Amino acid sequence: MDYRGILDIIKPDTDEINQIEKISSKLIKSINKICREENLNAEAVQVGSVAKKTFLKGKSDIDIFISFPLSTDMNVLKEKGLEIAYKINEEYNGECDEHYASHPYLTCIIEGYEIDFVPCYKIDDAKDMKSAVDRTILHTRYIKSHIKEEQIDEILLLKRFMDCVGVYGSEFKVGGFAGYLCEILILKYGNFENLIDEVSNWRYGTVIDLEEYGTSDLFNDPLIAIDPTDKNRNVGAALRSDKMEEFINACRNFRISENKLDFFYPLKKENISRESILKDFNDIGGKTYIVEFEIPEVPADTLYPQLRKTEESLSEKLEEEDFKVFKSGYWTNEKDKGVLIFNMEVYKLNNIKIHYGPKIWVRQACENFKKANGPDCYCLNEFLVVNKEREFKNATDYIEYIFKRENISHIKIGKNLKETAIKTFKIYLLENYLKTLNKEDSNGFLDYLDDFLHPSQHTRR
Ligand code: CTP
Ligand code: MG
Repeated sequence: MDYRGILDIIKPDTDEINQIEKISSKLIKSINKICREENLNAEAVQVGSVAKKTFLKGKSDIDIFISFPLSTDMNVLKEKGLEIAYKINEEYNGECDEHYASHPYLTCIIEGYEIDFVPCYKIDDAKDMKSAVDRTILHTRYIKSHIKEEQIDEILLLKRFMDCVGVYGSEFKVGGFAGYLCEILILKYGNFENLIDEVSNWRYGTVIDLEEYGTSDLFNDPLIAIDPTDKNRNVGAALRSDKMEEFINACRNFRISENKLDFFYPLKKENISRESILKDFNDIGGKTYIVEFEIPEVPADTLYPQLRKTEESLSEKLEEEDFKVFKSGYWTNEKDKGVLIFNMEVYKLNNIKIHYGPKIWVRQACENFKKANGPDCYCLNEFLVVNKEREFKNATDYIEYIFKRENISHIKIGKNLKETAIKTFKIYLLENYLKTLNKEDSNGFLDYLDDFLHPSQHTRR
């Protein structure tokens, strides 16, 4: 295949590279100057995809690490590292936000570029690691010294392909492949097309061990990619099984597609109107309920796993109550709204349910059951049973019940969501809920619903 047309779109040109190098080296010099002035034995290093030249055009987040000698006290590193970052941000009139990895770091917008300033320890071997971010310098060094010039294009193709089929990014919102994992995969399989063939045969528990450390038994994950700089880490640990499955499926679809190049463009979505979405839900049948609640101010990496956990747990409980969930999901505008969605196949039940007792053949147990349940007990297929009034006849009755403070412990709810969910939750039918949303939220949610209804669309072209 000829990918030149795609590479023209995704490969940064000399102009972009020069600009990024200019600003990076300016910032690095300024940091090192501050360190000298303050007699700090620390040093700024360029890491991440910019240092490796594996970033996609227009998508460079610049990663600059402020590395301290191992002898530095952890508190000093945290405090001084952040202080330097704030000073640089001020010097360059940036806008900044504090984030948290294994300790706080600063994300700044300076001259239009997003730049992470991350304090870390300077190590040459992962065994000396004191915080998780310390490995990053080793990663950068490893990739730069092992990747062949022509493989950079293959990495860019892979990142773009993954992005367009919806599996790129190790943040919890996606649960997909990290940039570093893409680089490892190209080192393993040589080039993009060979990778497509190999991934099509992946099994659960596939092992990639570039340095042949033989430590895969330490891990029990769907994909085990031993970090070539650290035999005790699985670079695939953040990859969720569903994203790995989607990727395998996308690779298989790519092999047989007659429109291969279309895989390198984001999916074109047409006319996702409220009416068309509601029509699609109507075609499925059943009823679709929305549970909406306010969310606290927490990072996206905290929010998404908690929404996921809450949705899965409530779904399971609904099934235990004899309701049938056809499909469920979660969505958030990441500002103030969290949403759970339940497309119900069975949302209304009989007034009574059959309460099962012991088998007829066990006399004493039957006596006890009768004593407890009265004279209306009867025989049903070997069992003694009795009809009982159901507590929850409608799925919404059960959801209302669950979100009461005294009942919330029946489900596993994200710990940051619990308070606001109890206080602010509301249940809607989907068609009514859509009317409550402002334009921006409505667009975001309709786009989500479109994926909910058509889960296969991203992985094929
Ligand atoms: N990193 C990691 N594991 C992760 C995320 C990040 O080891 N789950 C390390 C990697 O060494 C990575 C660096 O942190 O290279 C910077 O992270 P990030 O910016 O997310 O990845 P890049 O490699 O820079 O890729 P890109 O920005 O192009 O997505
Ligand atoms: Mg990066």
